Amino acid sequence: MSTTQTSATTNTNGRLQGKVAIVTGAGCVGPGWGNGRAVAVLFAQAGATIFAVDKNADAMEETIRRVREVGGAISAHTCDVTDSASVAEMVAACEAQYGRVDILVNNVGGSAAGGPVALAEDKWDAQVDFNLKSVYLTCKHVLPVMEKQGKGAIVNTASTSGIRWTGSAQVAYAACKAGVIQLSRVVAVEYAKKGIRVNTVVPGQLHTPMVEVRLAGQRSGGDVDKLLESRVARIPLGFMGDGRDTANAALFLASDEAQFVTGTEIIVDGGMTARCD
Ligand SMILES: NC(=O)c1ccc[n+]([C@@H]2O[C@H](COP(=O)([O-])OP(=O)(O)OC[C@H]3O[C@@H](n4cnc5c(N)ncnc54)[C@H](O)[C@@H]3O)[C@@H](O)[C@H]2O)c1
Repeated sequence: MSTTQTSATTNTNGRLQGKVAIVTGAGCVGPGWGNGRAVAVLFAQAGATIFAVDKNADAMEETIRRVREVGGAISAHTCDVTDSASVAEMVAACEAQYGRVDILVNNVGGSAAGGPVALAEDKWDAQVDFNLKSVYLTCKHVLPVMEKQGKGAIVNTASTSGIRWTGSAQVAYAACKAGVIQLSRVVAVEYAKKGIRVNTVVPGQLHTPMVEVRLAGQRSGGDVDKLLESRVARIPLGFMGDGRDTANAALFLASDEAQFVTGTEIIVDGGMTARCD
């Protein structure tokens, strides 16, 4: 079954030339186009120097290879973004190496199944750390650097689960992703006069490696085709995007083309959240 369309060609054309971009979750749970990996490669193609961050050094190897294949510049830093001291140290390392942080893309996150009754309290807490506290922590440590520069762009990654029911109970994930959207809006207003823009990409149901590695086990007893079929059935455009579609939206939001865009979201979901049947 073919449910995924080949990615569109993007005119990257130096759109991020000379900028330094921290990308968290720059690896991926498997080979292929996860969101963070796609952001790292596309931003590098657009001229940014990538400071790739992931808690799993091995997961960044494919990202590093792909960035170098497109002639991009990248260095990798291992860091758990749910830990404040590690995040502080990571941001200091980027500043020490490059002297600045122009762009922050927060990409770490992922869902755990279950509504309030099914989801254990410790899983709830872990979801909040993973999906929401991680964003707060990187903003906490990057914003002072951007403030010194008088300029910066933050792009956070939410999910359509943060704005709609998307087919299964995942209460903590949904609540956290809604939190990411509102966190972005209020930080955007607070920091607007300081030249810092904050926006969110809201991806829908993508076909990223996470589907094979984690989601099919959670949702369809490991039957990947069955899961893909049920996901694509909700999408008006009739195919699933992947990390490169998220990256295209993030590239616009991170670039100076979006100089008048802050405190808002781009939904990348093939029309899924626009339908109500
Ligand atoms: N894949 C989708 O269909 C989809 C849809 C909507 C939203 N999203 C969102 O996109 C983002 C990325 O998802 P994905 O499926 O592309 O990613 P992924 O799960 O494939 O990869 C994320 C990377 O984050 C790293 N990571 C995990 N915990 C970390 C931590 N504490 N500190 C540092 N690194 C850590 C992992 O090692 C991995 O390399 C998430 O925020 C997710 O919620 C994904």
